[in-house]
Amino acid sequence: MKTKASAPGKVILFGEHFVVYGVKAILCAIDKRITVTAEDIPERKISIKSNIGELEYPTSRPTSEIKSPLKPFYYLANKMLEKHKQHQGIKIVVESEIPTGVGLGSSSACCVAAAAAITRLFEKNSKEQILELAIEAEKTIFENTSGADCTVCTFGGLIEYDKENGFTQIDSKSGFHLVIANSNIEHSTDTVVASVKQFKNKNEEIFAEMCKKESELINRAMRGLKQNDLETLGKCMHDNQEFLERIGISNQKLRDMVKVAENTSFGAKITGAGGGGCIIALTDESNLERAMSELREKKYECFSVKIDFKGLDTF
Ligand code: PMV
Repeated sequence: MKTKASAPGKVILFGEHFVVYGVKAILCAIDKRITVTAEDIPERKISIKSNIGELEYPTSRPTSEIKSPLKPFYYLANKMLEKHKQHQGIKIVVESEIPTGVGLGSSSACCVAAAAAITRLFEKNSKEQILELAIEAEKTIFENTSGADCTVCTFGGLIEYDKENGFTQIDSKSGFHLVIANSNIEHSTDTVVASVKQFKNKNEEIFAEMCKKESELINRAMRGLKQNDLETLGKCMHDNQEFLERIGISNQKLRDMVKVAENTSFGAKITGAGGGGCIIALTDESNLERAMSELREKKYECFSVKIDFKGLDTF
């Protein structure tokens, strides 16, 4: 038997870093996907082929011994084989449209699509059950994941998330386009989060005031999203970027990219941890092409996305 599932990547529209200190964040699924195909095979092995590498081990190998970014796939396959007492193996093939390591949710999309495809070989599950398994799998490589990325990759659309209340889907059918420009500077989320903590510890009062302002900004952005008011949303992005600059997660390349994108779009900002990774610019049909060509003229790598409202899809 062969099963297939796909899940979208994501961007953080508003609230990165401040979310760590209790402020709300808004995330959005994007129409770039990861597709995972799973197949049961007679040999007692788990084999994984993906754009970031390959892995093959006998099923007797404990998951704890796997040292690879592909560990979540192995974990899921091993868990299902053990649960259903199957003396066979699983072959997994991953195809991706999402660049890796730049904050676009490729790891979460992999975990969601893999959880759906692999479990489908043995049992039928709800999206909620798949999400739970996907988060469990992601924790094998990112112990402290909040689960927000996997949630938006599973359900699609827009979600708000805060530490206290968890996730809520946002009722919006906004039709905007986002231009994503990649700095091609790899970043480590943990390192950048630690540098923000240092900033906070040295500037307690200023940081508390910024969290308050960021919360107000997110409330404005929520209203903008519900009314599909791109002018307001763009202004919120601009203001959010200023906060991100102040907490020190930007650099010259990201600043230059944001500046170029702001000339043509409704607003632009870093998305995700910063220090590298990507920026996003808010556009619609009226300025999408111009925003892309200006960025490309300056030799920045970019592509456009829309909101993915489908989330996890199982074939
Ligand atoms: O770059 P990403 O998508 O891993 O985003 C990290 C988001 C942070 O707010 C910086 C950290 C976090 O755990 O929320």
